[in-house]
Amino acid sequence: MSLLTIDEYLRQPVAERLPYYQKEDRLYHVMMSQQFPRPLMEEIFGVANTLKAMSHDYEGLEFLSRLLRHKRGMLYFTQPSTRTFLSFLTACQLVGITTGEVQDPALSSEYKGESQEDAIRVFSSYFDLVIMRDPKPGFCEYIAYRQDRTGFSVPILNGGSGKDQHPTQALLDLYTMHRSFQRMGGISGKRYAFVGDLQRGRAVRSVMYLLANYEDLDFYAVAPKGFQISPDLQLHLEERGVRLHFTDQLNEVLPEVDCIYMTRIQDEYDLSGESGKIDLASFSLTEENVNLLPEHAIILHPLPRRQEISSGIDANPRAMYWSQLRNGVYIRAALLLYIFGKNEQLPIIQEKYSS
Ligand code: NCD
Repeated sequence: MSLLTIDEYLRQPVAERLPYYQKEDRLYHVMMSQQFPRPLMEEIFGVANTLKAMSHDYEGLEFLSRLLRHKRGMLYFTQPSTRTFLSFLTACQLVGITTGEVQDPALSSEYKGESQEDAIRVFSSYFDLVIMRDPKPGFCEYIAYRQDRTGFSVPILNGGSGKDQHPTQALLDLYTMHRSFQRMGGISGKRYAFVGDLQRGRAVRSVMYLLANYEDLDFYAVAPKGFQISPDLQLHLEERGVRLHFTDQLNEVLPEVDCIYMTRIQDEYDLSGESGKIDLASFSLTEENVNLLPEHAIILHPLPRRQEISSGIDANPRAMYWSQLRNGVYIRAALLLYIFGKNEQLPIIQEKYSS
């Protein structure tokens, strides 16, 4: 049987591709937010809570570091990264996974003309999982497909696929919302603002896909003209019953929301300097307009930030972006345990930590 090309593979509807990323009814490759129904997501949140509690003492850390000591993970990041790379690395260390990495293909055999497909085939021969980031939308999905068809399959985790998706960022964002809204009735029934480059920001796209698992939601999409939510996502949100409000007037939205998700303009994807025409001040939180938000509202950002959140806001009690990035380690470690079926070993020990 001949292999499909990447274009042929991605032409299949998402609903048809999703089952390929499961193995024996369990999550195997992590590619996109649509793979995480609410019960699975909340199970992973529970594991992350346990990991968080256990990470505070030597005994807990010692126990965790034995769980996946027999596994090796490859970090293959061909697009710049600080947080995703480091938090995956730290998450691997937390649960005992030994790691290897390629961040600069110029220092690997790709420099000698080896294809990425072949390079990843090498990784999957030496490692038990591959965590990757790549600028091409859908490329890691295609790699997962090729591997499965050529007999060398290890789980592939998408750490950011161009303008498409960033599912593990979305999981940690939802985990942060889940914890913040714990005593306020949870994620459902709340109003969320998403600000900035909603068209090309993969993190914000994945967050919206994931949030749509909840009920009774209002989304305020605050973006410059030409940078609004793309049609695939809009359709998904409408099908899930999300009430969508499109605007470019940030200050009018601020008093209305429980959570605001700020994003930077993704100008690395510009074709002809189109980002340069945006009035950035209109899509920024400052020490003045931040107080238009209700007191209980939370501010999230996948980071890195530029001017869209003034650093003067960092000490504001609504600013959650630093805890958000810390949560990334626990969520990613929880996901690794889940993929290798080790999450089931936690509850026994959890009793000790919750008493
Ligand atoms: C995001 C990304 O790379 O998509 N950053 C991250 O992973 N924390 C957001 C961004 O770069 O704007």
